[in-house]
Amino acid sequence: MIPKETIDLIFETARIDEVVGDFVHLKKRGVNLLGNCPFHDEKTPSFTVSPAKGIYKCFGCGKGGNSVNFVMDHEHFTYPEALKYLANKYNIFIEETVRTPEQEEAANDRESMFIVSNTANEYFQDQLFNADEGRAIGLSYFKERGFREETLKKFQLGYSPEKSDAFSKFALKEGYKIEFLEKTGLTIPKETRNYDRFQGRVMFPIRSLSGRVLGFGGRILKNNVKAAKYLNSPESEIYHKSKVLYGMYYAKNSIVKKNRCLLVEGYTDVISMHQAGLENVVASSGTSLTIDQIKLVKRFTNNITLLFDGDAAGLKAALRGVNLILEAGLNVKIVTFPDGEDPDSYAKKVSTEVLEDYVDRKAKDFIEFKCSLLLEEAKEDPIKRAELIKDIASTIALIPDHIARTVYAQTSSKILGIEEQVVFTSIEQSRSGKATSKAKPMQVVSSPKQTTAKPLTLTTNLEESTLVRLLVVYGTHTLHFEHTNEAEEAVETNISTTEFILSELNEDDIEFTHPIYSKVYDEIVSYIHENNTIPNQKFFIHHYNPEITEAVSELLSDKHQLSDWAKKEIFVPTEAEKLKEIVVEAVVRFKSKQVKLKIEDMLKQMKNNDISEEDRIRFIGNFQKLNELSKFIDKELGREC
Ligand code: CTP
Ligand code: MN
Repeated sequence: MIPKETIDLIFETARIDEVVGDFVHLKKRGVNLLGNCPFHDEKTPSFTVSPAKGIYKCFGCGKGGNSVNFVMDHEHFTYPEALKYLANKYNIFIEETVRTPEQEEAANDRESMFIVSNTANEYFQDQLFNADEGRAIGLSYFKERGFREETLKKFQLGYSPEKSDAFSKFALKEGYKIEFLEKTGLTIPKETRNYDRFQGRVMFPIRSLSGRVLGFGGRILKNNVKAAKYLNSPESEIYHKSKVLYGMYYAKNSIVKKNRCLLVEGYTDVISMHQAGLENVVASSGTSLTIDQIKLVKRFTNNITLLFDGDAAGLKAALRGVNLILEAGLNVKIVTFPDGEDPDSYAKKVSTEVLEDYVDRKAKDFIEFKCSLLLEEAKEDPIKRAELIKDIASTIALIPDHIARTVYAQTSSKILGIEEQVVFTSIEQSRSGKATSKAKPMQVVSSPKQTTAKPLTLTTNLEESTLVRLLVVYGTHTLHFEHTNEAEEAVETNISTTEFILSELNEDDIEFTHPIYSKVYDEIVSYIHENNTIPNQKFFIHHYNPEITEAVSELLSDKHQLSDWAKKEIFVPTEAEKLKEIVVEAVVRFKSKQVKLKIEDMLKQMKNNDISEEDRIRFIGNFQKLNELSKFIDKELGREC
């Protein structure tokens, strides 16, 4: 835990222009800075940094936020990692709250394991490039496979000598404890000697998102030996196989930029694709994806393309593995390679352009692919065809998005040559069966990235976003009201913008509808409860929840303030001066809009014949109340009704 004061200090100290400037070339443009967006490909810059507001905003892809959000997004850090990064940049000392002795020991153990793994990684690389045996056997093997030296260096490939305890001996002599050599699986202690796990193999270090070495894969070089082709580090406190994707450290930025992740089977596929210039590639290391691996991909993109060699056995296995991916809401495409080729061999055979084009052009939507494949197998056999429809429908049923399901139902009915209704019914059956079965649908917590992948449509309800913007920008400003009380005396009331808006909404029991805006609302309410004061703009900009900072950055951006408002002719630029009028009008407009939406919704429900008499009476009562409210509001707005 990082203490709150330190977090505040980091936010105060970190300057957005400096933080972003480390990664993006920025040019001055008026009071702001402008550059090419690091989150999507663009030729004309639309990435704006406002040093005064402490935020960045891209008008191309919609990303925005504060310094912490920027490094979280750009470096794929978690929140604490981002804070630590900034603290380090600005020499701020972080005194973490005390850990228990057990936690301390566990953390130290893991740290020792990381250090041992790092040493091993350096040792194996040194052996590959500088030792006679490594050069003669390992380096020549890699060269023969067509890996260039820069590629070997980038992926930190290495060589572990044939001698059965070469590394263990080296590490013990260097003073590393046998405990950690054993825990990382690098050494297997036996009664008489300490054996190396990897002997006479070329080494592939497996790295974490931030680049730390977690474990290794070692490939055997001799063809005649019975031993496994690949030997991997065992599961350990630092290496959780089901959570790691090989190559993610190198691929993450490219995955975000291209908004697509290519998934291959093996280490060498990843490396060859990189060497050919396609960098958004990771490997599942020969197994089908786990839920944690899918979540990892989902942090960067919603689009995944599976690259498979064309043999039938591989394909069948692939089909089974895809269900989990669809269930997580990812869009899946599939590319198969010509017979006998895999991504590794194909990447070496053709030019970068051909490879890129192949992956692009050959990518078939997964559902369509599955339809065609099964259809080919079933031919005209009616029983097989019936099974196939069920199979496809049960796959489509997994997709969480309703619209996507509908589209797939339509395309697959075309491919299969059967009526849409049959597919729909089968999907519904599969879904209701699933709902009652014990198998719980998988829960994937959508990360903040997902909200940014689809740019927020915050302006769809202009009335609502206007009100939230006023809360954020002018929340602490005082509004001055004069009115007469029952005794006909002039009374003055001073009230903050936030209090005014909150009390108005409370009075008519109206809430925000946009999920992020209602979060903003909840945050304001709990802030007031806790601190007995109104949160200021900084509270929102520095909020720990990136969804909130992102939405707020969008509202604060100049584009939002000027062009949109000017277009709608609602506000003049001097809004601070006429704040009271603006706030009052915004409240009334918002209420009017929400009430109209509620009425619409109610009318729809009343048309539904299934509702009980009791409900109907309740509806009519509500409806009348709403209608009155709506008329009243319209009058306040000066509209004739
Ligand atoms: N694998 C493994 N253990 C094995 C075989 C395979 O862990 N005994 C994993 C490795 O991560 C490997 C992946 O499965 O990269 C795919 O296996 P395969 O296609 O056989 O290997 P390639 O990566 O193609 O390796 P190479 O081209 O060197 O044969
Ligand atoms: Mn291969």
